[in-house]
Amino acid sequence: MAYQPLPFRAVAANVLLAVEQGQSLSQCLPPALNQLAPEQRPQLQAICYGTCRWFHRLDDELRQRLKKPLRKPDRVIHHLMLVALFQLRYSEQATYAVLNETVEACRALDKPHLTGLVNGVLRAAEREGAPEPRDDSSRFSHPAWMVEKLRHNWPDHWEAILDANNQQAPMTLRVNALRFTRDDYLNHLQEAGIRARPTRFAPNGIQLESPVPVDRLPWFADGAVSVQDEAAQLCTTLLDLQPGHRVLDACAAPGGKTCAILETCGELAEVVAIDESAERLPRVQENLDRLDLHATLKQADAANIDQWWDGQAFDRILLDVPCSATGVVRRHPDIKLLRRESDIVPLASIQLGLLDAMWAILKPGGRLVYATCSVFPQENHRIIQRFLKQQDQALLLNLDKDWGQDMQTGRQLLPDPDSHDGFFYAVLEKPAP
Ligand SMILES: C[S@@+](CC[C@H](N)C(=O)[O-])C[C@H]1O[C@@H](n2cnc3c(N)ncnc32)[C@H](O)[C@@H]1O
Repeated sequence: MAYQPLPFRAVAANVLLAVEQGQSLSQCLPPALNQLAPEQRPQLQAICYGTCRWFHRLDDELRQRLKKPLRKPDRVIHHLMLVALFQLRYSEQATYAVLNETVEACRALDKPHLTGLVNGVLRAAEREGAPEPRDDSSRFSHPAWMVEKLRHNWPDHWEAILDANNQQAPMTLRVNALRFTRDDYLNHLQEAGIRARPTRFAPNGIQLESPVPVDRLPWFADGAVSVQDEAAQLCTTLLDLQPGHRVLDACAAPGGKTCAILETCGELAEVVAIDESAERLPRVQENLDRLDLHATLKQADAANIDQWWDGQAFDRILLDVPCSATGVVRRHPDIKLLRRESDIVPLASIQLGLLDAMWAILKPGGRLVYATCSVFPQENHRIIQRFLKQQDQALLLNLDKDWGQDMQTGRQLLPDPDSHDGFFYAVLEKPAP
């Protein structure tokens, strides 16, 4: 029998089911893309990202339309209907194609007994239009706990944060300062017909008017530029890197900031890049190779210094801790489905543990930059406050910058629809003896 590939909506439904079961899109999308013909892949990607982005609103509608929830073994059809609703509400797809092909996908998923239900639900959805959201979770399409936490943490900004999280992020580049000036590279982009402008705060950043595949970027494969958000690029402006410094990037993968550090100062003594994840660490090497840079890579739990540290203290430490990633929801909308409120306390304790451990291996007179892509003070301002209570010797630097908001312990950037992601930075110095 000839191999019959699944229709792409059926593949999308399986991907969403995997996300609901705890896998990230970056884990489950690549194998799913490989099941499809190349011309269908961009559409699968757009549908999976879009359905995650609007999941809570679409799910609210679907639950209103279903008399009773589907049985657990039929859950994939719930996701198939969400995919179809996403297309009806947020895409240009012709309605008849969405309806017919979703019913076909239901059959391909081996659920012929549900084709009548799928057809009925989608026809009613098409006829009646989208219902009013029943609550803020549906209105802003975020999990209820996230809406509440943001409302509580950011009484003047929560709606803007939620709206920004639902927009598509711009594509931003970091020019490799060892190879090009930003102005030169902007000229090369213009010659290549790619419209772009300099970023406002990051000195080597360029924001594209619309995203392009990286192979269209002049000399990308040769290391001219990297894709990196503007807020992430700001780390090097805080590290005050000087020739001869020994630098540690304690949570390095996939290496965006390791490479930014090496590009900022060509004469560092050594950069050590650590990551706990054996799966993610090779990505650091790939990025270094493309940019023709060198760092010492170690796979380890950075906090367990006996496991990896050679006893030589560091002049500079970047601690870009694992976090809720609530500042980058617009780039990773699956965070809305994956993250739980109960994740935050354990994350905060990992963050404080890493900060304590890194402090011990910072040279007197050295500087540590603490970074997260979270917008929750529990992982940001309050971590630094808790740390300073334990380490009264630590000097907290006052960051007088034109970006972000002053949080007393550091600066918080909130996601901006026109530019950078949400990020937090604090800078600590160890007094010289
Ligand atoms: C926010 S990401 C780092 C992003 C990276 N700095 C960049 O700019 O490309 C956090 C990283 O910390 C790693 N990680 C988590 N816990 C760790 C630990 N205890 N020690 C070292 N790395 C850890 C994760 O595997 C993840 O790659």
